[in-house]
Amino acid sequence: MQPAVVAKNILLVTAHPDDEAMFFAPTILNLAEKASNESIGFAVVCLSNGNAEGLGETRTSELEKSFDVLGVVKSRRWIVDHPELQDNMTADWDRIIIAKVLEPYVLDLDIDTILTFDSQGISSHPNHKSIHRGVQTLIQNLGETSSKQPRRLYTLVSSSLAYKYISILSVTFGKVDVYGYRWMQMLENYIIEVLAIWYPEIMTPAIPRHPDGHAMPEFISGIEGYAKALEAMKMHDSQLVWFRWLYVAFSKYMWVNSWVQVSADAQ
Ligand SMILES: *[C@@H]1O[C@H](CO)[C@@H](O)[C@H](O)[C@H]1NC(C)=O
Ligand SMILES: *[C@@H]1O[C@H](CO)[C@@H](O)[C@H](O)[C@H]1NC(C)=O
Repeated sequence: MQPAVVAKNILLVTAHPDDEAMFFAPTILNLAEKASNESIGFAVVCLSNGNAEGLGETRTSELEKSFDVLGVVKSRRWIVDHPELQDNMTADWDRIIIAKVLEPYVLDLDIDTILTFDSQGISSHPNHKSIHRGVQTLIQNLGETSSKQPRRLYTLVSSSLAYKYISILSVTFGKVDVYGYRWMQMLENYIIEVLAIWYPEIMTPAIPRHPDGHAMPEFISGIEGYAKALEAMKMHDSQLVWFRWLYVAFSKYMWVNSWVQVSADAQ
């Protein structure tokens, strides 16, 4: 059995204002609530102010409002405006610069777990894909200089387009995974109880279990969470062209976030 590893200080890295609402709302809602009870630390860094059409200032204030809706406190959210990390549909961001910009946040907040886009970037936006590589570079660099546990990277799973747009159905799929997992845990507990009749010491495991230690890296929103995500989307007035309404109506990411752990040197 793997020892339970529990995230204490989590950093979510996004690329542009509205990513937090479009892709990460189920995760943010869950972790921000946990952080409010001080059971974990949770912070968000957005690496650009979305200035592609000269709307940087507007989009910054829209993002602030969206963070308010999602429950990310002011002292734990940052919007970066770096000359080499500007919102641009065709530009790759330099992985070394991303690592440099993120490093102080990771060190100051004692971050042990970083969440961000996967190598597909969810929407294939090159800025998103760059962040994935930048965070890997950062974790590699810190791993070389620190005696602490290496930081862990989790990435949001990009699903195929068809799956991406089956919103309500995906809640059902997500729940099936969760129930299947709980059922396995119940079965395991039952087997242990039966074995304990002959081997009582089995009941005191060598590695104490943390209640969250085996939690699946999946966050699922109910109707209430979906409504909050929608409200956060509405804060991005300047971005709400018609096709975004289609997105919020049909996107899986408004309801479910599935995360997978990625090694810092995986491609
Ligand atoms: C956090 O506290 C609120 C009330 O203060 C409670 O409703 C909620 O269940 C708590 N959440 C966790 C994860 O402990
Ligand atoms: C976006 O990136 C491309 C390619 O790197 C570059 O040619 C273009 O000038 C950039 N656009 C802006 C507005 O910076």
